[in-house]
Amino acid sequence: MDVSQAARQRRSVRSFGPQEVPAGLLEEFIDAARGGPSAANRQPLEYVAVTDPGVRAEIYPCLKWAAYIAPHGDPQPGHEPTAYIVVLRRADYELGGMALYDVGAALQTIMLLAVAKGLGSCWIKSVNYPKVAGILQVPKSLEVDSVLALGYPGEFPSQVDLKPEDAGLEVIKYWRDEEGRHFVPKRALAAVLHKDRYGG
Ligand SMILES: Cc1cc2nc3c(=O)[nH]c(=O)nc-3n(C[C@H](O)[C@H](O)[C@H](O)COP(=O)(O)O)c2cc1C
Repeated sequence: MDVSQAARQRRSVRSFGPQEVPAGLLEEFIDAARGGPSAANRQPLEYVAVTDPGVRAEIYPCLKWAAYIAPHGDPQPGHEPTAYIVVLRRADYELGGMALYDVGAALQTIMLLAVAKGLGSCWIKSVNYPKVAGILQVPKSLEVDSVLALGYPGEFPSQVDLKPEDAGLEVIKYWRDEEGRHFVPKRALAAVLHKDRYGG
C-alpha cells in the first residue's frame, strides 16, 4: 500500500476485533514517529505503548467516543481497542504551543503506518487525563496529550464527499445508518483547494 492509499483509507475506527496487536508493531510505529518533524527539533514527545489487558481495562473507562452520536459510537462489549499508544508531552522541552503540531505529525505518522499494517485507530482527546496519568504512572514533568486507540478493525467507516456548496458547520456531523455503518462527511475538493490564488 502506498502512502496516498493509506491516507485515503484511514478512518477513525471505534469497533475492534479480538486479535491482539503485536507489541513489536507499536514499537515500530513509535520508532517512525520519533523521527517526525518537530518545532525547533525540541522533540518534546514520549510514548507509552500499552498492550497489557489489565492496563487496557483501566484505560478504557477514561475515554469518550464519537460525541455527535454518543453513545452509539462506543465500542460494544468485546470490541474494545486491543492496544493504545499514549502520547506524552514534556513541558520543559516545549516551544510555546508548538508541541501540539508535533503531536499531530506524530499521530498521523502512526495512524498511516497502522493502516498499512491492517490496523484501525482512533485519536482520542476526550480523555480523563489525571486518571490516565495515574494508571500509567506518568511523572509530573510530562503531560498526557492524547490517547490513540488501536486494534484490528471491526468496522470500516466510509467517507462521503460533500458538495462544493455544502459549507458551514451543519454538514460535518458523522452519522450511523440503521445497520450501524458509520459515515464521515468530508468537504469537497473544490471547496478547499484554491489554485495559485484564493478562489482560483
Ligand atoms: C484532535 C482530535 C481529537 C479527537 N478526539 C476524539 C475523541 O475524543 N473521541 C472520538 O471518538 N474521536 C475523536 N477524534 C476522531 C474524530 O472524531 C474523527 O477524526 C472525525 O470524526 C473524522 O473522522 P475520520 O477520522 O474517520 O476522518 C478526534 C480527532 C482529532 C483529530
